[in-house]
Amino acid sequence: MNFHSFPRVVNPIDGEELTGFALCLLAATGGGLLPPAMGMDACMHADPNGPVYYRGWYHLFYQYNPEGAVWGNIAWGHAVSRDLIHWRHLPLAMVPDQWYDINGVWTGSATVLPDGSLVMLYTGSTNASVQVQCLAVPADPNDSLLRNWTKYEANPILVPPPGIGDKDFRDPTTAWFDESDKTWRTVIGSKDNHGHTGIVMTYKTKDFINYELIPGLLHSVPGTGMWECIDFYPVGGADGSEELYVMKESSDDDRHDWYALGRYDAAANKYTPIDAEMDVGIGLRYDWGKFYASKTFYDPSKNRRVLWGWIGETDSERADVAKGWASLQSIPRTVELDEKTRTNLIQWPVIEIETLRINSTDLGGTTIDTGSVLPLPLRRATQLDIEATFHLDASAVASVNEADVGYNCSTSGGAANRGALGPFGLLVLADGALKEQTAVYFYVSRGIDGGLQTHFCQDESRSSLAQDVVKRVVGFTVPVLDGEDLSLRVLVDHSIVETFAMGGRSTATSRVYPTEAIYAAAGVYLFNNATGAAVTVEKLVVHEMDDSYNQIFTADDASAAL
Ligand SMILES: *[C@@H]1O[C@H](CO)[C@@H](O)[C@H](O)[C@H]1NC(C)=O
Ligand SMILES: *[C@@H]1O[C@H](CO)[C@@H](O)[C@H](O)[C@H]1NC(C)=O
Ligand SMILES: *[C@@H]1O[C@H](CO)[C@@H](O)[C@H](O)[C@H]1NC(C)=O
Ligand SMILES: *[C@@H]1O[C@H](CO)[C@@H](O)[C@H](O)[C@H]1NC(C)=O
Ligand SMILES: *[C@@H]1O[C@H](CO)[C@@H](O)[C@H](O)[C@H]1NC(C)=O
Ligand SMILES: *[C@@H]1O[C@H](CO)[C@@H](O)[C@H](O)[C@H]1NC(C)=O
Repeated sequence: MNFHSFPRVVNPIDGEELTGFALCLLAATGGGLLPPAMGMDACMHADPNGPVYYRGWYHLFYQYNPEGAVWGNIAWGHAVSRDLIHWRHLPLAMVPDQWYDINGVWTGSATVLPDGSLVMLYTGSTNASVQVQCLAVPADPNDSLLRNWTKYEANPILVPPPGIGDKDFRDPTTAWFDESDKTWRTVIGSKDNHGHTGIVMTYKTKDFINYELIPGLLHSVPGTGMWECIDFYPVGGADGSEELYVMKESSDDDRHDWYALGRYDAAANKYTPIDAEMDVGIGLRYDWGKFYASKTFYDPSKNRRVLWGWIGETDSERADVAKGWASLQSIPRTVELDEKTRTNLIQWPVIEIETLRINSTDLGGTTIDTGSVLPLPLRRATQLDIEATFHLDASAVASVNEADVGYNCSTSGGAANRGALGPFGLLVLADGALKEQTAVYFYVSRGIDGGLQTHFCQDESRSSLAQDVVKRVVGFTVPVLDGEDLSLRVLVDHSIVETFAMGGRSTATSRVYPTEAIYAAAGVYLFNNATGAAVTVEKLVVHEMDDSYNQIFTADDASAAL
């Protein structure tokens, strides 16, 4: 079992768990829910689509291939939840059945209108593989489960404008209302004619049927290629602080989600990053590991913005076909401006995840000497929510020498490369002999400018004995303000590790495929491979996590509080 309910996360070597994978089970049995042609025994998930809170239910739609474990035949899968943790799967919301989306019902976004009604904009890939934008609305607005969707009769509502390639025009955003001219705005990502510059175009509409392209580009950044899955939303602004705008693009060239903080001038249709060196596509990423094609939505019930990301596999396509499924969705994260730094976002697992915590063990107050590894006395280490803070002695920090200049998580040798003030942190999904381990750590070094820099890294290089797996060391520098201890929160769930460093200033997600460090053989260790300082673990609380669930929606569920 596991606590990533959507879908179930399993260790790929465990056959029993795989048959319990609900979406595949749904497809395999048909359940009377799927078009007959789609009753197959393998499936693939990708981009989260149209997340929305509607009449008491959270809805997540997602790119879904019911016919295989690799990308293709894209339809919209659909799941609903009362709490963002326990999910029920509904029949496919939309399938490719019209000339304008016959090659795929691709990514789209929901917009809730002031009267509470809902419109969905999505990209269709036509019978000629042209990317066009389409409109769909709930067939019955009174069905809070939003089971049936009506595609607008005169779709498509937008085709690629002059100068934009037929295959470079996709993923409309949630629309926002512009008071100045009483129209809705939505943006669509693309690239310029030479393919090198990522661009964002803005459309305005009064009725979601007729659109006008606003002259000029909302934003563009040379050298970043095709921008997919744009997301654009305000953050901050509370207590009189200036509101900023997040622009996020999913970079088709490198398959990472990049964001910037900036200012939005609606009248001029211009977005300007607060720091040109940290512009979209060249500065910050939501997550330094495996995380792509993400989308946020505003949750009015808790006055928060929630982020979903697609976590792809890092094993081979052959392995995915053999196991019959591929990819999952991240644990949903709240996202907000870091008001302390105002240079980055804060991402944090939604608070509801804490309802799965059972049997919390407090192991704080230890010191880890240089070069040591300490096993934690845990009953079970495959489903955990770990909270840890580390403290480095100030005199040790002051002594960091210049040999550390230029440290880089990706290229500096991972957890096995010892420096004066790092690496130190946690080894998760580790077997007793440490043949398999995923290291989550900090490394403090001196930056090129002479100041101290803290790096937050996740080392997958020893995460699995399996050969056909991509293993990297991922991570980046993370802001640490005066007086702050170094903090980690690590969600471990059999074959996925989602880590939030410094309260969520930086995150890294790894899909790992342990072969030894599974079930009772999996453990957690503290480690300190720094040569120059002992590290005090001020706080260490390890919560065992209960199983979540992931079931087909039944008639009884409609009235039940899930
Ligand atoms: C696509 O479908 C439309 C509408 O049926 C039709 O007019 C058009 O000829 C088709 N194009 C191709 C390439 O099949
Ligand atoms: C939705 O329910 C309301 C209240 O019961 C009713 O007045 C309305 O006609 C319904 N709308 C549709 C489209 O069925
Ligand atoms: C959805 O559409 C199907 C087929 O038209 C119909 O049988 C079903 O009752 C509809 N469901 C809802 C909740 O409206
Ligand atoms: C909680 O976990 C500890 C150590 O992992 C174990 O010794 C203890 O039996 C567990 N308690 C319960 C109530 O499960
Ligand atoms: C670290 O190295 C990678 C790979 O060469 C590079 O892409 C990245 O920009 C470097 N990061 C920093 C912070 O220098
Ligand atoms: C610490 O560094 C040594 C020497 O490079 C290495 O053999 C060992 O595996 C490292 N420990 C961890 C936990 O990575």
